[in-house]
Amino acid sequence: MRVLSGIQPTGNLHLGNYLGAIRNWVRMQDAMTDGSECFFFLADLHSISVHEGAEQRRANVRHMAAALIAAGIDPDRSVLFNQARVPAHAELCWLLMGTARIGWLNRMTQFKDKAGKNREGASVALYAYPVLQAADVLLYQATHVPVGEDQKQHLELTRDVAIKFNADFGVELFTVPDPYIQKETARIMSLRDGTAKMSKSDPSDMSRINLTDDDDAIMQKVRKAKTDPAPLPERAADLEGRAEAANLVGIYAALAGSTPDAVCAQFAGQGFGAFKPALGSLLIETLAPIRTRYLELIEDAPALDAILEAGAQRAAAAAQPTLRGAYEALGLFR
Ligand code: TYM
Repeated sequence: MRVLSGIQPTGNLHLGNYLGAIRNWVRMQDAMTDGSECFFFLADLHSISVHEGAEQRRANVRHMAAALIAAGIDPDRSVLFNQARVPAHAELCWLLMGTARIGWLNRMTQFKDKAGKNREGASVALYAYPVLQAADVLLYQATHVPVGEDQKQHLELTRDVAIKFNADFGVELFTVPDPYIQKETARIMSLRDGTAKMSKSDPSDMSRINLTDDDDAIMQKVRKAKTDPAPLPERAADLEGRAEAANLVGIYAALAGSTPDAVCAQFAGQGFGAFKPALGSLLIETLAPIRTRYLELIEDAPALDAILEAGAQRAAAAAQPTLRGAYEALGLFR
């Protein structure tokens, strides 16, 4: 079993990232008792698909590294690094360009969403993004990739690339990975719109809880979250058609280690005036220790850089055999 996943170091780590992905990374890391390694990285090469200044990008990488460590990623047990320090990612990405099909990329909903109406003006990196993601995963022979629902399609493409490359060149070079998506937290929705996912690119900061939000901000965002006037039902099935309410109940259940049915049973008949403060307190209880640790870690940039440098060395060594295998399979001298 080899676990690998990545996150773009743009913007803040938010509750959707945390419940959808990072919390599962930490759980998988903590469950590894046989010395197997987990690989977690900051997808800074992916971040060039949108424009950002160099200083900002450097700061973002440190911020996200600090946030991941604060959330429980242990750089002694897991390999934590940023993509750009491991050139094998960019190299394998190019080698896979001959295997990935334009038709596959044309089907990617994330490209369609992010490019919007201005497809002609989108960067080539935004379009080819899933090929780099395939390289990220295949380089390390990952078997399990813990992600939120929105990355499922990219992982299907990763599987297609692995299968086609192996078949085209008659090799068994790449392991075909499985996405690991936890159903209950696969899609945490915006606090302002129960039909849109919580996202760092939403212009309204009120739509998301950031891991860096202080207690007052968390409580205020929960109090202002969009809901409806009806009380909570006895069973979660009766939240059908109430997207915002279902989202808040789902978040509560995920944080309490409970189920939406149990949360509904607990609050049945009560309105959001009673439920929201309880949810706010639970969020503060969970996030405050992470925020405190994050604020300490971010003060020590040299220590973060050293962690990422050490992680990159371990990652580069792990990636080498597969990269060499890809050059050989293609008949390229290296
Ligand atoms: P990114 O940076 O958008 O998000 C990081 C992780 O958070 C999950 N996530 C969510 N889960 C539930 N609800 C939400 N509202 C929500 N928002 C985000 C994402 O599914 C993801 O797991 N392309 C990737 C980064 C990447 C990667 C990889 C991932 C690059 N290479 C290789 C896995 C394997 C991305 O942009 O994630």
